[in-house]
Amino acid sequence: MSTAEKLELLYKEIRNCKKCPLHKSRKNAVPGEGPIDAEVMFVGEAPGAREDETGRPFVGRSGQLLTEMLEEAGIPRDEVYITSVLKSHPPNNRQPRKNEINACLPYLHRQIELIDPQFIALLGGVAVSSVIGNRRLLDYHGTFHKTDDRTFFITYHPAAALRFPEYKQRLREDLMNLKHRLGGD
Ligand code: URA
Repeated sequence: MSTAEKLELLYKEIRNCKKCPLHKSRKNAVPGEGPIDAEVMFVGEAPGAREDETGRPFVGRSGQLLTEMLEEAGIPRDEVYITSVLKSHPPNNRQPRKNEINACLPYLHRQIELIDPQFIALLGGVAVSSVIGNRRLLDYHGTFHKTDDRTFFITYHPAAALRFPEYKQRLREDLMNLKHRLGGD
């Protein structure tokens, strides 16, 4: 089976997933999107209301800001892979629960294996703590974290940047730093 076929199967599995109670309230699961050979994968927290309606990641207000900031940094959105820790919308945008994260995380790990990106950008505290363990964003944003086989990049979630102007500036600078590591112009 080709990698594209494996990814398609994974999407199907995610869309039909009933591993946590969120499947009862969601409209659409949101597996993620982007080129199969993307150099960078962005990982958010959980789909919001707009994502739940459309089945696409980061298409609401946070997504618009992320898309703008990526373009500004010289990273076209359609060249990166975008997903979140949770694939189902938590009602009222409440924080993901431990059981939901535990149920959903294997999907993210399978996406990482299939896409095999050079860098995995973790957006915000939930992505950071779920994937590499808790880190204070204030100290670690803009930094890379290498494990045996992966390189992670730590930064803020665009929703935090919408709320606090100083986070917006940090996110902007972090994305430029990431672009610098990616090379190109
Ligand atoms: N926030 C996320 O973390 N993911 C989305 O897909 C949208 C908003």
